[in-house]
Amino acid sequence: MKPLLFAMSGNEDFTGRLIAALGAEPGSLETRRFPDGETYVRLASDVEGRSTAFVCTLDRPNDKTLPLLFAAHAARDLGASRVGLVAPYLGYMRQDKRFRPGEAITSSAFGRLLSSSFDWIVTVDPHLHRRTSMAEVYAIPVAVCHAAPKLSAWIREHAPNALVIGPDVESEQWVSAVAAYAGVPFVTLEKTRRGDREVEIKFPDLGGWRSRMPVLVDDIISSGRTMEVAIRHLSELGYPAVMCLGVHGLFADDAFKRLEAAGASSIACTNTVPHRSSAIDVSDIVATAISSLGP
Ligand code: R5P
Repeated sequence: MKPLLFAMSGNEDFTGRLIAALGAEPGSLETRRFPDGETYVRLASDVEGRSTAFVCTLDRPNDKTLPLLFAAHAARDLGASRVGLVAPYLGYMRQDKRFRPGEAITSSAFGRLLSSSFDWIVTVDPHLHRRTSMAEVYAIPVAVCHAAPKLSAWIREHAPNALVIGPDVESEQWVSAVAAYAGVPFVTLEKTRRGDREVEIKFPDLGGWRSRMPVLVDDIISSGRTMEVAIRHLSELGYPAVMCLGVHGLFADDAFKRLEAAGASSIACTNTVPHRSSAIDVSDIVATAISSLGP
């Protein structure tokens, strides 16, 4: 499928890469804010009868979601044959359970909202923790791309002597694949989250891995506390350098600076969320997934 691809604000680079990989046509879109804060959206390209997709990575999703839904609605209204969403990072996946009475299960609510506006979604490594498939959250087809081979290639090039370290038991699903493709060993730590920015981490005995370069690998770096606590512990254990590798680098507030201050010798993420750490391009696997969805 070669859809007409529209870049929502901030997604121009990733969209350009997709257009080049797919030989797709760029869509032209105008958005602005009215003085009262409401959003104006205009599709300047003709979508009638066209397969159409919007590229919008959904980190910090609150401000991005309404313009996106308005654009999707306009496309449908103007006769697009299909309306897809390419969300390299798909937010609101983490609150998938009511931990305390009365809490909103926002992953379900967000899933319902997007499913009512789009025909399909392509994303990269969504945070599936207690859910096993996207079909439990989304009512439309969701094609999931996996960044593990890309992270492995980065490790082979930059840290061939790595010990891949996953910060919690759930990370085993990613780190085992990353380590296997890179041909290096892995361990997982035991993390207990005490609050949004408070984590405790227990380390196994790393005595057998003294000569290896520790590479912390996680799917999301958000507040950065998980990586920060792990880096400090590894420094205390006498490792002179620690590398950090993430699929989605959200870097809330000063997270990036804190990781550098904690002693990270390098921090690399994919380009699902544009950031100066976006060293690993995943647009080619996203383009392949878009093609696989059919016309
Ligand atoms: C948790 O389940 C995720 O895999 C990450 O470990 C977590 O989102 C990292 O968050 P933070 O950077 O805020 O510690």
